[in-house]
Amino acid sequence: MSVPLAIELRDLRKSFGKTEIIRGANLKVPHGQRFAIIGPNGAGKSTLFNLISGAFAPTSGEILLNGHNLAGLRPFEINRRGLSRSFQITNIFHRLSVFENLRCAVLYSLGYRYSFWQSLEKLADARERAENVLELIGLKRRSETPAGLLTYAEQRALEIGITVAGGAEVILLDEPTAGMSRSESDHAVELIRTVTEGKTLLMVEHDMSVVFGLADQIAVVVYGEVIACDTPERVRANAKVQEAYLGTPAEALDE
Ligand SMILES: Nc1ncnc2c1ncn2[C@@H]1O[C@H](COP(=O)(O)OP(=O)(O)OP(=O)(O)O)[C@@H](O)[C@H]1O
Ligand SMILES: [Mg+2]
Repeated sequence: MSVPLAIELRDLRKSFGKTEIIRGANLKVPHGQRFAIIGPNGAGKSTLFNLISGAFAPTSGEILLNGHNLAGLRPFEINRRGLSRSFQITNIFHRLSVFENLRCAVLYSLGYRYSFWQSLEKLADARERAENVLELIGLKRRSETPAGLLTYAEQRALEIGITVAGGAEVILLDEPTAGMSRSESDHAVELIRTVTEGKTLLMVEHDMSVVFGLADQIAVVVYGEVIACDTPERVRANAKVQEAYLGTPAEALDE
């Protein structure tokens, strides 16, 4: 029997005004796989994430999470069903400490917002989970540092921690290594590998060494469609991908 799907897109479409940005996207992401989404600027990759996470409603088509249609669900409801995303732009509370940022993320996932002081037990639980994530992302010694004072790479690591803090089984990361040096992004690859162990990852990424280092499969999005979805080796060899996405010979897809 085939592996059940974590995410499935069926003929997904999204228009802004008269412009159709997502033009019949189809995708099947099995449980436990790491998927990279690649494609040129403006292809619609972040828009796909906004649709899957519920920030945008599709114009038509279906999005299934663990086989359940997400139509009409709001972002926090989708989050409760086990899907968590990061943003292309860093999205942390700069004045809160690293630890407080993580604890907020845990509390949010537990359904506590303004009333979380009501349960000290839950707070203790949240503290423990936040400490675990802190350890996982390697920022323990920065625990009390205001997040705004972290280096850029540390902030992105914290953001990944915030994304996984709630225990979601399906993780969406939008350009997690953008703006990093080679050694920083090598480090980020190891971090992403660790925090997504046993989970499903969908990651938009431009850096081919990150893509080839992490992805079990690559989905190529061009002009609002998934034009190819295959193993890294086969995508690299795919003439259609080289032509449509790169417009140049194969070396642009080399590591
Ligand atoms: N809320 C919106 N309203 C109108 N147009 C939008 C909106 N969001 C995105 N677009 C347009 O949709 C297209 C796809 O944008 P999107 O951000 O999804 O691309 P992307 O593949 O993530 O690109 P990049 O690699 O540069 O991040 C762009 O032309 C963009 O201007
Ligand atoms: Mg984008």
